Amino acid sequence: MAEIVVVESKRAAGELVAASVRRLIEAKADTVLGLATGSTPLPIYAALAESFRSNPIDVSRLRGFALDEYVGLPPGHPESYRAVIDRDVVAALGLTPNNIHVPNGDLATLEGAGAAYERAIEAAGGIDLQILGIGRTGHLGFNEPGSSFASRTRVKTLAPKSRADNARFFPTPDDVPRHCITQGLGTIRRARHLVLLAFGADKAAAIAAAVEGPVTASQPGSAIQLHEHVTVVLDEAAAAQLANLDYYRYIWANKPAWQGI
Ligand code: PGA
Repeated sequence: MAEIVVVESKRAAGELVAASVRRLIEAKADTVLGLATGSTPLPIYAALAESFRSNPIDVSRLRGFALDEYVGLPPGHPESYRAVIDRDVVAALGLTPNNIHVPNGDLATLEGAGAAYERAIEAAGGIDLQILGIGRTGHLGFNEPGSSFASRTRVKTLAPKSRADNARFFPTPDDVPRHCITQGLGTIRRARHLVLLAFGADKAAAIAAAVEGPVTASQPGSAIQLHEHVTVVLDEAAAAQLANLDYYRYIWANKPAWQGI
């Protein structure tokens, strides 16, 4: 079962995950990270930046693969996930730009883009640690309800709810692209460690469905139940609908310190 960790703040969540990422890099300089975008992972990137600043390590060989990208935004669009990853991850952490990959949402080359991304992940030896957020629809990456648990990187249509949620990043709601290219649930499930974060009451229902609900394509988040190494890091509000919360707290409180997440 997934390990559920309830923390007091986003900052604490970021520090917990960043410490784990740092340990990975110390053990394997060319660690492969799966990178999420959106608001949720920002505390991890901030904590990593702080960790690298206060105690520098060589991150020149660190590699990364973003989860998803919008389709059809002009190159360099500030809200394309390529631009977001370049800004919030590559520049902020001092990574090697050529080591960090984002699915290509360019219309001209879209047909082969999913398969090419899968090949690149495979050639890198797979993803060691995949950072994930979750949408109010339950999506992981942009795998909206109904996505196959076996799916690989491909083009999807964003759910209206997800478009509305992402409208805050665009001048008008109509500017949010309708299509995206996203790692599939099958791609995500092949990562060796999944770390799913969620903050706020808006995510509580999706988290309860992912952790405790039936395993169903109607709740893409429930795919985590099929993975052998999952850590779910939540604030109190996002954890509020978990039926077995007391047990999860008990497990965490009694965990040997050496185990890590
Ligand atoms: P958010 O998005 O981190 O901006 O809340 C999460 C998601 O849509 O997966």
